[in-house]
Amino acid sequence: MKKITIAIDGFSSTGKSTLAKHLANHFGYTYVDSGAMYRTVTLYAMQHGLIDENNFDKEKLISHLKNIEISFIFNKALGFAEVYLNGVNVENEIRSLEVSNHVSKVAAVSEVRSKLVEQQHKMGKNKGVVMDGRDIGTVVFPDAELKLFLTASAETRAKRRFNELKKRGDNVLFEDVLKNVEERDYIDSHRKDSPLVKADDAKEIDNSNMTKEDQFEIAKNLVDKILESQK
Ligand code: DC
Repeated sequence: MKKITIAIDGFSSTGKSTLAKHLANHFGYTYVDSGAMYRTVTLYAMQHGLIDENNFDKEKLISHLKNIEISFIFNKALGFAEVYLNGVNVENEIRSLEVSNHVSKVAAVSEVRSKLVEQQHKMGKNKGVVMDGRDIGTVVFPDAELKLFLTASAETRAKRRFNELKKRGDNVLFEDVLKNVEERDYIDSHRKDSPLVKADDAKEIDNSNMTKEDQFEIAKNLVDKILESQK
């Protein structure tokens, strides 16, 4: 059967990765978490003292980009590919609130974006890929057969993120998580290069009051329809 490309975009903590992983497992496709790539570059910048609460040495980060190698290695037990920075597994570290607090600044740098988009193109060139992010349907794969745009209220999303962070054992305050969600929404949708916008041909799903299973059913039916029409 012919394989398609599935692009899933939306604001932070809209459940993009949960849906993307579920679709990838169901259809036997590769899941790529493009946000993990921006988070990994951010972690590198933090490790090298290039970014903190007050400063961001953008030029130095640009000059370091050639030293940053990002790879994904499938973890059978987890059922998805974990992200590696220069050969070191950073899957857990990149999910911290500290990385979340800096990532939008790093993701606004055009040189960072073009390096990561090039790698994303390569990962999706054979189709059979589900990629989630902010610019997948607009910039990375404008010809994707299925584009989904997920939304949910900021409160709902912050609650989900707060619960995830608590589960990891992170000591965070709900108000800080909500502030981070709102700040990232603003920066991600107002940056000059590839801002978060819904592609004209994307299907919008507001999942504020939906279960993960309901959402999966909707998306799965859309994929089935496309696959059927290609027979
Ligand atoms: O999906 P996420 O929350 O892990 O993404 C982290 C950040 O990376 C997000 O605030 C914006 C940025 N990002 C982006 O600019 N483009 C993408 N394709 C994916 C993520």
